[in-house]
Amino acid sequence: MVSPPPQRHLFVVFGATGDLMQRKILPVLFQLRASGKMPEGSLVLGVARRPIDDATFRALARSSLESAKVADAARVQAFCDASLFYQSVPDETAPSFAALRARIEAIEREHGLPGNRIFYLALPLDAFAPTLTGLGVAGLHTAPGWTRVVIEKPFGRDLASAEALNRLVHQYFDEKQVYRIDHYLGKETVQDLLVFRFANMFIESLWSRERIDEVEITVAESLGVEARAQYYESAGALRDMIQNHATQILTLVAMEPPATRDEDSIRNEKVKVLQSVVRIAPGDVVRAQYTAGKLSGASVAGYRQEPGVAAQSDTETFVALRLKIANWRWQDVPFFLRTGKRLPAKATRVVLTFKAPPVSFFQTSEEYEANPDRISILIQPDEGFELAFEVKVPGRELRVQTHRMVFHYRDVFGELPDGYETLLVDVMLGDPTLFVRADEVEESWRLYEPLLRSPPRLSFYPAGSWGPAEAESLVREWGHRWYTE
Ligand code: BG6
Repeated sequence: MVSPPPQRHLFVVFGATGDLMQRKILPVLFQLRASGKMPEGSLVLGVARRPIDDATFRALARSSLESAKVADAARVQAFCDASLFYQSVPDETAPSFAALRARIEAIEREHGLPGNRIFYLALPLDAFAPTLTGLGVAGLHTAPGWTRVVIEKPFGRDLASAEALNRLVHQYFDEKQVYRIDHYLGKETVQDLLVFRFANMFIESLWSRERIDEVEITVAESLGVEARAQYYESAGALRDMIQNHATQILTLVAMEPPATRDEDSIRNEKVKVLQSVVRIAPGDVVRAQYTAGKLSGASVAGYRQEPGVAAQSDTETFVALRLKIANWRWQDVPFFLRTGKRLPAKATRVVLTFKAPPVSFFQTSEEYEANPDRISILIQPDEGFELAFEVKVPGRELRVQTHRMVFHYRDVFGELPDGYETLLVDVMLGDPTLFVRADEVEESWRLYEPLLRSPPRLSFYPAGSWGPAEAESLVREWGHRWYTE
């Protein structure tokens, strides 16, 4: 199905001088304009506190786009000069937002835009509420055309703050206007989970407690905290990765087929999964922090030695947990989730392990070790799927070996688009399917409330390892071993 092209609009970014805009959003907007996915004549208005003018903002953008190597200098300059504007909003007072409104209207008038507006909040959590209020008080929640508001993660830091933020959002915006970003939902393999499951009868017929023994979701990173200690110290891996990215993957793996392909059918099924998760107790979770170690042969510092991190920081950089989903499809099947920084590799994948055959008459051979069949969904890098199954080694002697059948997207489709590209086009088109609905974000916080209230004791692991020994024991008690390849 081909969607109609997006309509011309003004794309307003709060936090326009910040890292996310300069490193990620701006290059994506450039690409979308260059490929025609952002309609000709649409403009970008950067908003931040800094008192700079259009020319200085364009120079900043130019240097970011040049470092991102999106195109040659002449094309970058042409884009910046023709499409970028800047408005300083030095504080959250009504006059500052009234000035913003006047500027928006002036740009729209001058360039003949129809009054369609996207407000992208690329801001830290504590700036969401005052910005939303500022927009509402200035009357910017309505426009001559449509208005959409995009809110970055983290959406709250616990259930109460997420509920409060939702109340504030709904004071001014209808839920249909709100796009809560989880950039994992923009990744092709995450989206393809639905096609993989619901367009392939042989897969879906195996996808339940009848055939599946356990499910592992790993979101591993080799990067450390980098220059983000200020944010990360108040977040930690549970808030940064588990509550959102890993939980979103969990919902897509576990959900029932939606009634239709529309956004509410899909999101309703995802919410039902969250509602069926059995309460996760602190004993079902291991929290850990990396110490100094070696990664790819190089020595790397421990978390507490990273710039900006407190010498006695209790923030976790690793979480492993086990849970069950009490519904007809998944009753009694263990799900294991794990994320961490400074692990040996960047690897996001889901592994579904099948039950063993009820009787095995091959086990007479000494060399044969039972390897249950597996489906691995390789979310990144090397996006694709892998099926591990048993075959007979040719010869008179009966020997069995595990083999893998692999499908990699890049072999068939080349480079995949960036997740942000997909999501920004969806916002421009007005399709909220790949964004997190209000009740969904609240349910996902609700899952982790007991852990946020009484966090389990912190363990430690050397950088470059797959996490602490406690993470192994946690899953061994439920009969599992983490996959490391
Ligand atoms: C972000 C987290 O949401 O996702 C980061 O804040 C993390 O800590 C990043 O590094 C990982 O994203 P990706 O797309 O590189 O897997």
